[in-house]
Amino acid sequence: MKYIYIKTWGCQMNEYDSSMIANLLIQEKKYLLTTSVEQADILILNTCSIREKAQEKLFHQLGRWKKIKNNNPNIIIAVGGCVANQEGKKIFKRAHYVDIIFGTQTLHKLPKMISEIEKNKKHSIDISFPKLEKFKYFLEPKKIGYTANVSIMEGCNKYCSFCIVPYTRGHELSRPCDDILFEISILAKQGVREINLLGQNVNAYKGLNSNGHICRFSQLIRLVATIDGIDRIRFITSHPIEFTDDIIELYKDIPKLVSFLHLPVQSGSNKILKLMRRSYTVEEYKLIIEKLMVVRPNIQISSDFIVGFPGESEKDFQKTMSFIKNINFDMSFSFIYSSRPGTPASKIKDHIDIKEKKKRLFILQNRINIQTMLWSRKMFGSIQSILVEGISNKNIMELCGRTENNRIVSFLGSPKMIGKFVNLKITKIHTHSLKGELI
Ligand code: SAH
Ligand code: F3S
Repeated sequence: MKYIYIKTWGCQMNEYDSSMIANLLIQEKKYLLTTSVEQADILILNTCSIREKAQEKLFHQLGRWKKIKNNNPNIIIAVGGCVANQEGKKIFKRAHYVDIIFGTQTLHKLPKMISEIEKNKKHSIDISFPKLEKFKYFLEPKKIGYTANVSIMEGCNKYCSFCIVPYTRGHELSRPCDDILFEISILAKQGVREINLLGQNVNAYKGLNSNGHICRFSQLIRLVATIDGIDRIRFITSHPIEFTDDIIELYKDIPKLVSFLHLPVQSGSNKILKLMRRSYTVEEYKLIIEKLMVVRPNIQISSDFIVGFPGESEKDFQKTMSFIKNINFDMSFSFIYSSRPGTPASKIKDHIDIKEKKKRLFILQNRINIQTMLWSRKMFGSIQSILVEGISNKNIMELCGRTENNRIVSFLGSPKMIGKFVNLKITKIHTHSLKGELI
């Protein structure tokens, strides 16, 4: 019996890929999954290179695994994901004890690559971009919880000037519509009630349907909504470009679509948006939100922000701060700009002092936290629909689940409710969690 250990960094796409790797190795190679590095025969690292010192972090981790391999030379070490695509063979040079390098689009080749190493091949590498091939190899998904992630497309064509994704995950490619619907139906049969559609730019989805016609994102959502058992639909991430009226209409027609949207804006200054090559203005972004509010008045918006982008003046930063208040964003992600190798922004001179960048991030995050709290407070006394996920971590007498706007709520209930939707009255507010009572 052989054991695999998988460590995953980064976004939900990577989480999805890792779960597919596990499925593949468990079913094809009869391996078992372990959470103990010491027990493992194969160590797999699925990396992320979106920000910060991705390479350093990788070699740091590999250094720790090297010690384990020194004690047990038969252990196989495989490195995959975005850093593998970015660095390729260079990883073998710096860490010769690594056996396998696989890319974001070649994870399905792992069983074969592992067999090669087992047959004494020294190294195996494949970081090519075969179009959507990996999905043909992925086995039927297995339910993990009552919410499931399903990848609907790969890659990105937007080439925002700061971003490495188009280089590491390849160009935008949409999975055929039927494949996605089939995967979701299987999950629904296993008891999954909430689906989270994944992609770098889900609203750019253009997959083929069974008649050979193009199915747009809005059409896909309408089809997902017809699947029995699926009562809540989310998606991440969408882009303000291509957030077209047919998608806005969905919020009128499809109650299963949550009243919560993550729509990254990055900056509130048109000058910076232009330098970032985001292809929209602050005004255009605002118009999308205004249209959404007409069809779904209670919709909450979260976003991503980058501070300290080269050329961002104090005035630009203040524009971002006013925009945050103006839109009244809920929980959001914010980052200090990180120069990524080979991207156009990495060639712009960066004059901003790191202290200043940290200060801006602190101010921005403080404001977002205040707004998050205010949004939570508004929920006091309201009735919320919760998908019950299980026993609460904090108190085994309680159950917990999530609201449409991603708040975790704990409450007293019966374990029979796990995996079902219940209505709760919100009775207590904390910054990131709530308490409720069954009604
Ligand atoms: N497809 C998404 C973004 C994916 S990356 C979109 O439409 O924007 C997730 C987030 O990481 C981005 O929204 C951005 O805020 C942040 N990010 C990406 N590259 C970055 C960089 N070089 N430095 C800092 N933050 C970055
Ligand atoms: Fe990156 Fe921009 Fe695409 S942030 S993932 S290049 S939309």
